[in-house]
Amino acid sequence: MNDELIAQIDVIADRVKAARSVVVLTGAGISAESGIRTFRDTMEGLWKEFDPATLATPEAFARDPVTVTKWYDWRRLGCLAAEPNAGHLALARLEQRVRVRGGEFTLFTQNVDRLHHRAGSKDVVELHGSIVEWRCNDTGKLIEPPPEAFEEYPPKSPFVKGGILRPNVVWFGEALSEAALNRAFGCVPKCDVFFTLGTSSQVHPAAGFVVVAARGGAFTVEINKDATPASGGVDVSIRGSTGEVLPAIVERLS
Ligand code: OAD
Repeated sequence: MNDELIAQIDVIADRVKAARSVVVLTGAGISAESGIRTFRDTMEGLWKEFDPATLATPEAFARDPVTVTKWYDWRRLGCLAAEPNAGHLALARLEQRVRVRGGEFTLFTQNVDRLHHRAGSKDVVELHGSIVEWRCNDTGKLIEPPPEAFEEYPPKSPFVKGGILRPNVVWFGEALSEAALNRAFGCVPKCDVFFTLGTSSQVHPAAGFVVVAARGGAFTVEINKDATPASGGVDVSIRGSTGEVLPAIVERLS
């Protein structure tokens, strides 16, 4: 770590220590070090290999439920096989540290992989749902299928005869859950420190959170391997990996 990065980490740690409320937004980049593919990275991004219009929309599911559910099941099994990395674990510790001092901590994630939960984070708002849960396309009832591939595609719903299951994720063209958005409206505008981590800041509404936080007076921090549309507007923009930088920030808090 160079001197500039160490100085940035010290500034961030001081702001976190003084904060009453910390809000974090994560994207696919935080899970990249767990071996889960991102969406827009030049080489390994899923959307470089697959067309979201044929896989991640309600229309695609209606047209070709076999292909769509097979693809999501392949991703589900990849998520279940992955382990949380140092970045996820550091955020769980950060939550603990902020809470012990009586502060508020909210973690919003665009990821569907459940790795924040498995790392020990207590309060996780899944903006784009979860791939680990599937839901009945007719009744909306949720199920957490066992960690093996489904026997057939689309998988049969156990809730209604002739029904099928879909992953409990938000597809392009679908609305985010009202409860998740209400959480964001409640805490993003009045937080003291806002982190945007491993997200390309291209998908709204999550991409707009950092702007709302900054307008409300928050100290804003980005950690990302690459520059994003958010980089120019944040107080500290660190070009690095979340698995390396987040543990260093948490270490400075003790
Ligand atoms: P993207 O794939 O768009 O962006 C991932 C970001 O993480 C990129 O800016 C990478 O440079 C960065 N990155 C990669 N590895 C990193 C690392 N180790 N440390 C830090 N940064 C790293 O993923 P998201 O921004 O999460 O939505 O994408 C948002 C949404 O678009 C997803 O939730 C998904 C997708 O379409 C739906 O499927 C609804």
